[in-house]
Amino acid sequence: MRVPSLARALPFAFATLALSLCLSGQGAAAQEAQPLPPGNAEAGAKVFNRCKACHQIGPGAESNIGPELNGVMGRPAGKLPDYVFSEGLASAGFVWDDAHMAEWLRGTKKMIPTTKMIFPGIRKDQDMADLLAYLHQFKADGSTAP
Ligand code: HEC
Repeated sequence: MRVPSLARALPFAFATLALSLCLSGQGAAAQEAQPLPPGNAEAGAKVFNRCKACHQIGPGAESNIGPELNGVMGRPAGKLPDYVFSEGLASAGFVWDDAHMAEWLRGTKKMIPTTKMIFPGIRKDQDMADLLAYLHQFKADGSTAP
């Protein structure tokens, strides 16, 4: 078998790389543009079980391994006074909303490489929508009154 010369193989390698980058880029954009299905807060309570090892929410919730999550929707990222955040999250400079939360929970390290939240990610859109609905219920004082 003839080994192709480096000069001939390289352009092909670059073309393949460029193509795959292009395709993966398109894939990511398509995924972000996709709206989530309607969420169900009751179902979201079950999804929140995946967070409970590190996070508390509801009346009397306190920060421990992770920050407490009462009123997290609409809260500036990395700013809770009673918790020491990673530098990355502390300086993120955004407010938690559905779009940021979904990006975060799909891949924390992808969004903020230096974060201390190690989480495999939520893959199913329905789980994500349910969890977001669940998080939205809690006001800063831990109550869920409308
Ligand atoms: C293994 C522990 C662990 C698990 C499981 C976990 N987290 Fe976290 N979470 C953390 C840590 C630690 C931080 C602080 C990250 C930092 O400072 O970089 C954090 C930070 C956060 C923040 C930022 C809060 C703020 O005030 O900016 C949100 C939101 C969050 N987690 C949501 C969740 C949700 C929702 C789940 C479940 C789907 C979850 N986390 C699962 C450990 C965890």
